[in-house]
Amino acid sequence: MRSTKETTIITYGTFDLFHVGHVQLLKRARALGDRLIVAVSKDEFNASKGKSAYSSYEDRKTIVEACKYVDLVIPEENWEQKRADIIAHSVDIFVMGDDWEGKFDFLADVCRVHYLSRTPDISSSLIKQHLDKSKTESEAALA
Ligand code: CTP
Repeated sequence: MRSTKETTIITYGTFDLFHVGHVQLLKRARALGDRLIVAVSKDEFNASKGKSAYSSYEDRKTIVEACKYVDLVIPEENWEQKRADIIAHSVDIFVMGDDWEGKFDFLADVCRVHYLSRTPDISSSLIKQHLDKSKTESEAALA
């Protein structure tokens, strides 16, 4: 007998300065099944990694929730929560961009682990670098 259970996917990330690389990742993740859960990194978790986002957790959550490929946003608060999230939400597929290739294979005993190729030439860090460079150039031109 065929199972009618829906396929649930989960992915994790900061999703700061929401850009086309994020959209492509979420679109392709959602296409793997029926329901996409996104764990968005909380500000405190980012701070513990020495990372700071332009937008607050609440704003990044609001933006990711507005993406049509996303069914549910949950907070990412630490490195260890993934296994518990997968079990709690009956997740079938764990997805990350291939900058994380191999790093989460240890979850393969609770679900499928899948890495998607990153969209080239775009990242939150790159956008910040470009904005900083433009600001420096404008200031230099005015000096
Ligand atoms: N991602 C992607 N393609 C990109 C950028 C990000 O597929 N060009 C994916 C990442 O691999 C990850 C998810 O989007 O699975 C969220 O990544 P995040 O770290 O928020 O995005 P980045 O833009 O890479 O952020 P940063 O520059 O701060 O690392």
